[in-house]
Amino acid sequence: MSDILLKTIAEETKPKVAEKKDKQRSIAVLTSGGDAPGMNAAVRAVVRSGINMGMRVFGIYRGYNGLLNEDIKEMTLRSVSDIIGNGGTMLYTARSEEFKKPEAQKRAAEFCRSKGISGVVVIGGDGSFQGARALTNAGVNCIGVPGTIDNDIACSEYTVGYDTAMNTALEMVDRIRDTAQSHDRCSIVEVMGRRCGDIALQTGIATGATAILVPEVEFNLERDVITRIVNTQKTGKKHFIIVVAEGVSKTHKVNDIAKYIEQRLGIEARATILGHVQRGGSPSVRDRVVASEMGYRAVELLNKGIGNRVVVMRDGKITDLDITEALNMKRVFDRDLYKIAMTISI
Ligand code: ADP
Ligand code: F6P
Repeated sequence: MSDILLKTIAEETKPKVAEKKDKQRSIAVLTSGGDAPGMNAAVRAVVRSGINMGMRVFGIYRGYNGLLNEDIKEMTLRSVSDIIGNGGTMLYTARSEEFKKPEAQKRAAEFCRSKGISGVVVIGGDGSFQGARALTNAGVNCIGVPGTIDNDIACSEYTVGYDTAMNTALEMVDRIRDTAQSHDRCSIVEVMGRRCGDIALQTGIATGATAILVPEVEFNLERDVITRIVNTQKTGKKHFIIVVAEGVSKTHKVNDIAKYIEQRLGIEARATILGHVQRGGSPSVRDRVVASEMGYRAVELLNKGIGNRVVVMRDGKITDLDITEALNMKRVFDRDLYKIAMTISI
């Protein structure tokens, strides 16, 4: 990099000289819904970008409840030291039924105004974005940042936490394979994804699962599990991994699938629900970097006085969309990738 370029970046990122505290613009940040690895990296980016741009930044504790319970704290550059590698969220998170009521939203907006908070960055899933839209309508600019392990937000190709969760699931299924192989068994593994089969699809491909069951693709156990196992048995395979998305468990519990396989094929089967292990752990490089970029972008928007938008990844680039437009989008499941998985897992 040339000296001139380095000098320009140094000038551009030099912290703005803070005006008198009472004249400074104030913003806040909260995390809401299910936690996800990388949320801390996003909080850190919001706090440091805001302070760097000359703003005061407040942390709101336990999602929207923090606004209703007036549980906030001013953050400093050092408040977010040493959190980028931590799972969970230092701001805690919650699901607030109370906040769904218009009078609660009004109260939250009044509280923000009383503290001089003109904008809030909301890190969470699309439920949290509905809250962000409501708070914007009540007079406080909000920007959403997609944070959920499920990757189930239609407007964004990527949600903070997804990469770490997939890699955790991958490691767990690899371990399960060791024991399944040693016993010539079939292991049925449920991964998270309430409405979305993305973790199951990616993990299934990466672990060579014989079958992958997701809520987006219709299946029947005979055709899509039993026949696939039998076909691979004919070529000499003796152990099998079946990856099932949580969203399928409403109609097909993994324990019932295991029993069905035992009865139909006479092979031993074991079911494992990975559960919340997928939500924790130190975020991957990708989650830390995307969270940092998205947090920065959210603050840039608030700094320009813009609200009611969601920061998203589209075609691999970080950009932003109107919240309502974003919430109205329909998720598209990657059927081509699913087809590839079914073609090569034989
Ligand atoms: P996620 O953000 O992960 O999708 P939820 O759907 O549980 O998680 O939503 C998180 C929180 O967002 C809710 O507990 C509630 O406080 C707020 N929220 C969800 N839907 C709405 C809504 N329609 N209006 C206002 N707030 C909402
Ligand atoms: O939205 C992420 C997620 O992990 C879903 O996959 C899962 O259904 C849900 O959260 C579980 O949430 P909790 O146990 O916190 O209620």
